[in-house]
This record gives sequence, C-alpha cells and structure tokens, in this order.
Amino acid sequence: MTENQGSNLATPNVSADSSGKSPTTPSASSPATQRTVSNGRGKGIYRARIAGTGSYLPERVLTNADLEKMVDTNNAWIVERTGIHERHMAADDQVTTDLAYIAGTRALEAAKLTAEDIDMIIFATVTPDQPMPSAACVLQKKLGARQVMAFDLSAACSGFVYGMTVANQFIRSGLYKNILIVGAEVLHRLVNYKDRETCILFGDGAGAVILSRAEDNQNSEILAEHLFADGNLGDLFILPAGGSAMPLSQKVLDEGLQYVRMKGREIFKHAVRTMSQGCQDAIETAGLSIDQIDWLIPHQANIRILDAVAKYFGIPTEKVVVNVGKTGNTSAATIPIALDQAIRDGRIQRDQNVLLTAFGAGLTSGSMMLRY
Ligand code: ACO
Repeated sequence: MTENQGSNLATPNVSADSSGKSPTTPSASSPATQRTVSNGRGKGIYRARIAGTGSYLPERVLTNADLEKMVDTNNAWIVERTGIHERHMAADDQVTTDLAYIAGTRALEAAKLTAEDIDMIIFATVTPDQPMPSAACVLQKKLGARQVMAFDLSAACSGFVYGMTVANQFIRSGLYKNILIVGAEVLHRLVNYKDRETCILFGDGAGAVILSRAEDNQNSEILAEHLFADGNLGDLFILPAGGSAMPLSQKVLDEGLQYVRMKGREIFKHAVRTMSQGCQDAIETAGLSIDQIDWLIPHQANIRILDAVAKYFGIPTEKVVVNVGKTGNTSAATIPIALDQAIRDGRIQRDQNVLLTAFGAGLTSGSMMLRY
C-alpha cells in the first residue's frame, strides 16, 4: 500500500515534467473546487452495462523506421520518450466513419444486437468525415440504424469518456435501452509530417461500445463518473484553421495552419495531474480502494504519462491496459480500442472493476469507474 491508497485519498495536486520524473510536485493551478463528480447511479432507477465492444485498426502501419525517413528523428528517441513503436494509418480511400462502421458492427455482434436495436448514437471525434453532416449521422446511415438521435461529441481525447457519461444518463433515466458510443479518428490527416514533435505521436483507429440497460440479474454498472474541462488551457493543443476563425485559404495551406500544433511539455504536465485527479475522483466516489481496481485504462498518449499516473496510485503495471506502443495516440479512440482488446483477449472479465481516465485538447478530462 502506498500512502495514497484507501478511500481517503489525498488530493493529487501532482505534476510531472516530461523528463519522466515521478509526479510529486504540487501544482498551484488545480481548480479543484470547480470539479463536479457524480456517482454513476444518481437518482435514476436503471443501471447501465457494457453489452458489447468492438474496435478496428487500419491495415497500413507507419513505423518509427518510416518516420526516420520523413523527419529528423530516430527510433530510440521515440521509444524512450513515448513508448510508441508504430501506429496505424487509414488507407487513402478510408474515412473516419468507415473505421467506426467496422468497430460499431463488431460491438453490435458482441452485444448480440442489430442496428435496429440502437436508440441513440454518440460519435466522439475531432476528425469527422466533414463538418456536416455529422459523423454520427453518416454512421447511422451506413449501419442502417433507425431514425434515432445521433450527434458528434467534440471533447478530443476525452470524447469517449464524455460519451459514455452522456449515454449513462439516458440509460439511467429509463429513456433509452441501447446506446452506441463510438470513438474514431483519422488523425494522420491533421498531422504535419514535417513536425517531428507531433507526427511521431498520432495514429488512426476506432473503438465502440454498446451501453445497455442492465437486467436485474446482471451485476454490471457504472459506479462513478467525472467530467472536467479547463478552457484556459485551450492553447496547449490546437488546430488553428478550418473553423470560423480561420477558414481554409491558400495562405492557410501555405503556412500549414490546417495541422495540429502542440506544446508537448506543458500537456505532459497537465495530463499527469488531470488523469490522476480523475482517478482519485472515481475511486473515492465509487467507494473502492486501490486494490479493488482490477484494470486501469488510461488515455494512450505516451507511456511515460501512463506510468506516472499508475505509479502515483500504486497500481501495478500488470493491471494497466497499454497498447500505445502499437497504436500511438488515436485520441477519442484509444480507450475503447484498449477496452475492446482487453475484453476480447480475456484480460477483463465480468464483475471486475475497470477505471477509465482521459485528458485531451480543451483541455478536457474525464474518468469513469465501472463494474464490467
Ligand atoms: N525526435 C528527436 N528529437 C525530438 C523529437 C523527435 N521526434 N521531438 C522533439 N525532440 C527534441 C526536442 O527538439 C528537444 O531538443 P532540444 O533539447 O535540443 O531543444 C528534445 O528532443 C527534448 O524535447 P522535449 O519537448 O523536452 O521532449 P519530451 O521528453 O517532453 O517529449 C513529447 C516530447 C513526446 C511530445 C512529450 O512532451 C509528450 O508526449 N507530451 C504530451 C503530448 C500529448 O499527449 N499530446 C496530445 C494531447 S491531447 C490528445 O491526446 C489529443
């Protein structure tokens, strides 16, 4: 047990610098008083359970050796500083909803449901096929789903946890029975392959979950959820052009403003702090102790960020689901992909406690404790 274990966890005003040092230094900027936490049951009468999951990674793989030929970098630096060896890239004729369609279909199969059963579609992404119609509506058509509510959710890498939390309210209230939540991205089209700091990090992929109303004899449920955003930190990770502030133009293209820009070291620090805070909120609200957590699935951004969060809580590395080495950062897709992989290979079993924690551009963050 570390001093932070147990239900009375100290506030994790942690920060870590990107040198990989342990997160021990207090951070003055944590606006803890602004956070809202709910237990996943609230006042609703129903419980939500994960009925099925699915994921898809495009076949094309971009290795560190490939990147060495494109920018001034090398395999040893990338592996040491990020833990990433390779990432997947959508084919030239694949769009985000194509990836989501495969992941969503697999989730439906796992849940033993059809598209007809879906009551609502939430599509977490920062790379929709186009600004309109929404990726959710495109996916609805591709799946052949009914004319149900469908919308995109923009919370960057926290998008999937945001989506799960929104879906939980609709299940809990009794309004809907089966909700499809997708996290899918084709990030490589937003990345400048001349910028060595960003191009090494990101990949493409999709993950999906069917969240369904639990029957009385089913033990699964969402035990705690916590969403948070701090717009004051929005400039740490931006895509300058393509919106109303800076419509696409020849000047934009000439200056490469259609690509993501990032303050990596600053993000690293906030990522460790916000994901640690999110874990603490979820653990406390669920009334669990650290040793009752069977699996931690953090947003897969950088192995050093994941290690720092797990180390802070004293969660053994074998309980942390990690796939960043083979996928890179797929933004909203990282957690549902990792979740699906760990369920399909038998690591995550029914009745186990699974903790999700994410951070992303905005800066957004979210955490969720669920009993699978
Ligand atoms: N190859 C070789 N050298 C590099 C590379 C590269 N690809 N990138 C940067 N360097 C150099 C830098 O120029 C710098 O050189 P200098 O010391 O001569 O100035 C040196 O390596 C160290 O740079 P740092 O920025 O301090 O490296 P750091 O250890 O912080 O790693 C990284 C950089 C990987 C970006 C790290 O900060 C990180 O992962 N941050 C979080 C990024 C992230 O998660 N972004 C997405 C968040 S939101 C979302 O998930 C959608």
